[in-house]
Amino acid sequence: MSKSLPYSRIVGTGSFLPPRVVTNDALAADMATRQIETSDQWIADRTGIRQRYLAEPGVKTSALATEAARRALADAGVDASEVDLIILATSTPDFIFPSTACLVQANLGNKGAAAFDVMAVCSGFVYALTTADCFIRAGRARCALVIGAEVFSSILDWNDRGTCVLFGDGAGAVVLRASDTPGILAAQLQADGSLAGILSTAGTVAYGQVTGDPFLRMDGQAVFKQAVTVLDRSARGVVAEAGVSLADVDWLIPHQANLRILTFLARKLGVPLEKVVITVDIHANTSAASVPLALDLARRDGRVKSGQLVLLQGVGGGFTWGSVLVKM
Ligand SMILES: CC(C)(COP(=O)(O)OP(=O)(O)OC[C@H]1O[C@@H](n2cnc3c(N)ncnc32)[C@H](O)[C@@H]1OP(=O)(O)O)[C@@H](O)C(=O)NCCC(=O)NCCS
Repeated sequence: MSKSLPYSRIVGTGSFLPPRVVTNDALAADMATRQIETSDQWIADRTGIRQRYLAEPGVKTSALATEAARRALADAGVDASEVDLIILATSTPDFIFPSTACLVQANLGNKGAAAFDVMAVCSGFVYALTTADCFIRAGRARCALVIGAEVFSSILDWNDRGTCVLFGDGAGAVVLRASDTPGILAAQLQADGSLAGILSTAGTVAYGQVTGDPFLRMDGQAVFKQAVTVLDRSARGVVAEAGVSLADVDWLIPHQANLRILTFLARKLGVPLEKVVITVDIHANTSAASVPLALDLARRDGRVKSGQLVLLQGVGGGFTWGSVLVKM
């Protein structure tokens, strides 16, 4: 292996959404056929969500992830053969094994890169990005593909109006390269497994059948309170570690679960809402895909610029959370 460089830097981003847009009105009309009552007004008032993108039944996470990865590689001007590490964050893998990362690797025509999945639910992307940064800084990799991808619609109980209206499908990816100038400035990951029960999909396939509950279940109010508390603490921790202040951060890109969570968080941190990238209105909650989807969108529409400080944050099942401070 050639001389290791001391830092890692994001050199390209990409994302992919399945083509089918489902508005709140369309979802409410569909649910009404099953005698389940909801409305655009309830969903928009409580969550800020107006629509979500849903994969057709049978479309797998690897398909969305591969397209997002191709776009990130093209943006970076990096050939798939140069990648020596693929980390994919998902809670909706195609299979128990092989990992979805290996399936994406095969789709891209890459051979030889280390490839594995990370399971940290809606914190998955910040967990994966931090892991890739550690590999690069340790000299174990030079060019990593870090992907967050979900077909979350596959684990939703479409008869449970308290959860099914909240989520969507999608994928986002970044290319992370060894660099002699700092890109990832600081990162903090944390978890509290004693809170596993407030957000879980506690079923599995064993002995030839599904055992346990195969659908996502959530104590919405407990998740809401935890999310605001830990994201606030984590944001303060990571900027302190980097020796900067919250006022120095150009863009806050938290996990997109609920507009009210984002608003409370911004207020607690004293960050103006104009500096928060918000996609939950159009994407809904895409779990591990939400942060890289939002980052890619904000780069493409010209908000996030080279040289700016961006604070990426994840929070979700486990209970897990984390923050990564990035100089773009
Ligand atoms: C889920 C969430 C929107 C629910 O909002 P809430 O204000 O806590 O609402 P509640 O669960 O107390 O429910 C209030 C009422 O609305 C009803 N309701 C729930 N979902 C509904 C829907 N989609 N449409 C209409 N009514 C609904 C409930 O049945 C309840 O009715 P009741 O008072 O007659 O019993 C909110 O708790 C939340 O966003 N939590 C965080 C969830 C999250 O972000 N999870 C992912 C983190 S990674």
